[in-house]
Amino acid sequence: MKAIIPTGGRGTRMQPLTFSTNKHFIPVANKPLIHYPIEAVADTGIKEVALTYNPGWLDVVKSYLGDGSNWGLKFTYVLQEKPLGLANVVQVCEDYLNGDSFVFHLGDNIFVDGFKDAYESFIKGKPNGLLCVGRHPENARMGVPYFNRQGKLVKCVEKPNNPPNDLAIIGVYFFNNDVFRCFKGRDKIKPSARGEYEIPDVYQWLIDHKYKVDVYEYKGRWLDPGKFGDWIESNQYLLDRNTNGEIKSKIDKESLVEGRVTIGKNCKIKNSKIRGPVVIGDKVVIKDSFIGPYTSISENCFVENSRVENSVLMAGVTIRNVLQTIDNSLIGTGTEISDVKSQHGNCLELFVGEKSQVRL
Ligand code: G1P
Repeated sequence: MKAIIPTGGRGTRMQPLTFSTNKHFIPVANKPLIHYPIEAVADTGIKEVALTYNPGWLDVVKSYLGDGSNWGLKFTYVLQEKPLGLANVVQVCEDYLNGDSFVFHLGDNIFVDGFKDAYESFIKGKPNGLLCVGRHPENARMGVPYFNRQGKLVKCVEKPNNPPNDLAIIGVYFFNNDVFRCFKGRDKIKPSARGEYEIPDVYQWLIDHKYKVDVYEYKGRWLDPGKFGDWIESNQYLLDRNTNGEIKSKIDKESLVEGRVTIGKNCKIKNSKIRGPVVIGDKVVIKDSFIGPYTSISENCFVENSRVENSVLMAGVTIRNVLQTIDNSLIGTGTEISDVKSQHGNCLELFVGEKSQVRL
């Protein structure tokens, strides 16, 4: 049994961040998103993992993830020439899999309790495909399973207009090697209206060709931080769940740390209040500020005379003299936000990229 985790795709819902950053490396609770799928795969005992990438990304992806030894895994990097959809990710891994069964775990889904039970159900039931589903209030923007009156799986549709139930196809898929037949011959699967090869079409092909497809309902917590609001919510959930309260830097006497707060090495916390759950990376400076609950601050950030809550600060962000509270925000690497009123009068001075959102 092997695993596939993709690092490619267009990342359109997370623009403008994804113009310059691969979505899979944007932090959730101060950890690159893709670490969660990697940890969940390692937890099953699977050792061999293919990481697919799109052209131009190999060096970045490798520099973040290495050879897999950090997780006791063996990574192989497999090129996906074009972002032609998730089924295409599976297709490009055929040689790598070399006949083995596999689990395909999306690089942007988090199963907070892992997926060992689903894995065991696949091993035990020996189906050609195991379809994992979970309840989701917005399943119309996902893959959806359809069942007949007897409860038998009959159809899988990507982003249907009127889903008949509240189930979504979640981002962990199991197949044996027969799945590759769906990419060959005259009745092979075709790209969808959005020009991508869709995973629900793979399951549909297996159903139509009388292969055994089992269904597993995932009851644990599933996070799908595909768009901005969901990212903030996932960050909150994981900060709440995982913050252990380890403080590795000195905090001056004028500062107050309340609740579960994790602080990395070589930070300077001066005359500030930090109310957890909060995670702060290495080499961060917080001066005369309030850092409120559900905030994660990556390494090398600088916050002075400001208030930040419910937010994600990526590496190297500077926030200075901002009187209004920065709330519910996701701030990209190297961004600077400062109040310049004292120098330039009461005006807004913006240097903001394409598709940014500034809400005042
Ligand atoms: C993808 C899959 C969809 C699945 C979803 C889960 O959607 O195509 O079937 O339900 O992930 O996150 P996408 O993120 O490409 O819109």
